[in-house]
Amino acid sequence: MALSLRILFFVLISITSRAAGEIRYSEIRSDGRPIIPFDEFGFTRRGQLELNLTQISLSGPDSSTLDLSKVGFFLCTRDSWINVLQQIEDAEITCALQSESIKKILVFSQLPNPTPTSFNLLYSESNADQYSLVFANCLLQVQVSMNVRSVMYNLENGKSNQRDYLSAGKTILPRVYFVFFIVYFALTAVWIYVLYKKRLTVFKIHFFMLAVVILKALNLLCEAEDKSYIKRTGSAHGWDVLFYIFSFLKGITLFTLIVLIGTGWSILKPYLQDKEKKVLMIVIPLQVVANIAQVVIDETGPYGQDWMTWKKVFLLVDVVCCCAVLFPIVWSIKNLREAARTDGKAAVNLLKLTLFRQYYIVVICYIYFTRVAVYALETITSYKYLWTSVVAGELVTLAFYVFTGYKFKPEQHNPYFAIDDEEEEAAAEQLKLEDEFEL
Ligand SMILES: *[C@@H]1O[C@H](CO)[C@@H](O)[C@H](O)[C@H]1NC(C)=O
Repeated sequence: MALSLRILFFVLISITSRAAGEIRYSEIRSDGRPIIPFDEFGFTRRGQLELNLTQISLSGPDSSTLDLSKVGFFLCTRDSWINVLQQIEDAEITCALQSESIKKILVFSQLPNPTPTSFNLLYSESNADQYSLVFANCLLQVQVSMNVRSVMYNLENGKSNQRDYLSAGKTILPRVYFVFFIVYFALTAVWIYVLYKKRLTVFKIHFFMLAVVILKALNLLCEAEDKSYIKRTGSAHGWDVLFYIFSFLKGITLFTLIVLIGTGWSILKPYLQDKEKKVLMIVIPLQVVANIAQVVIDETGPYGQDWMTWKKVFLLVDVVCCCAVLFPIVWSIKNLREAARTDGKAAVNLLKLTLFRQYYIVVICYIYFTRVAVYALETITSYKYLWTSVVAGELVTLAFYVFTGYKFKPEQHNPYFAIDDEEEEAAAEQLKLEDEFEL
């Protein structure tokens, strides 16, 4: 049980490191945690780690009496970490730093005596794999303070010795994001064309959809530029701010759009009911919270004390939002069924009913894939192919956008006129059947 929890912890580290590979500054203050995880990074055969420690101080009993070989940094892969945990459980070792499976970077007993306040180190790794940089402090009575600057990068092949600050499986992400930006740019153009062609039957919601697609495109452009800047320099240099702004706007507008379409606003009816407004009033502030949590998670990294808390806040808020957006669709389906029974236009209502049921299923699939399946994929794929889960997530999102746009596009023909008596009868029959089986 404890073992699986710790594995889960490692999985959690790896799924959230949007910023992995950046030059990372971390402040550790009077910290007694036995294990402090830093970043995770995929090395190629020419991987390097730069570690600069300043303001080192150990508090606790007189440091000359301590066994400082039990305090230090190490690199480990997921497999070797599981191995270490097993060894500790079997009581073969008492401290992760004593294990043979890990790669020691620096143990504090190597430092000259008395412990200096700063230390620099350059470590090269030629075994390509995904590593986590971890700090271990197996002395229960000692608390550690230090500023850590950690940089992990790969040297590019060839003589240039150009550094690539993106992890091995993520180094082509700038190009991936750029390709998707082009796709959404094309989608925007197509949508503007559709709006123009069918301008007589365009509703407000269609302009809202246009805004959502544009924001998505801009968000991808910023993400591509952000990633490519990090790849070259190791820092985000302002592009991350733009990225956060657009993800924030995109997140809010996308959820609002799902709710609005779900309520049938402007397609079925020109107003929102009170309970539908309430859903919006829940979802929008929660999206604000989710975005703040995402920024904190990305910018601090797993060494932070509050990192786990923010991670939980984000997951919780996200789940609540995803559930909340389903209610309006369910209400619409219910209303349409009741209307179909009473107003004698069964066929028309059945068409809409089918549409909303499809939409309900597609929204659930979209949420499931982007929240669960993508993370699962990221966990099981080798670190070298981490970009594939990004591509999978973006493809599912793209399919969702295309489906929504296609199914709710402005219609030239009003379905009221296109239905003959036969179809009407068939539809009424089907509704009756559904009522019997309570579908
Ligand atoms: C960090 O350590 C590396 C390796 O010793 C060194 O080359 C680099 O100049 C140091 N950087 C800073 C900011 O101290």
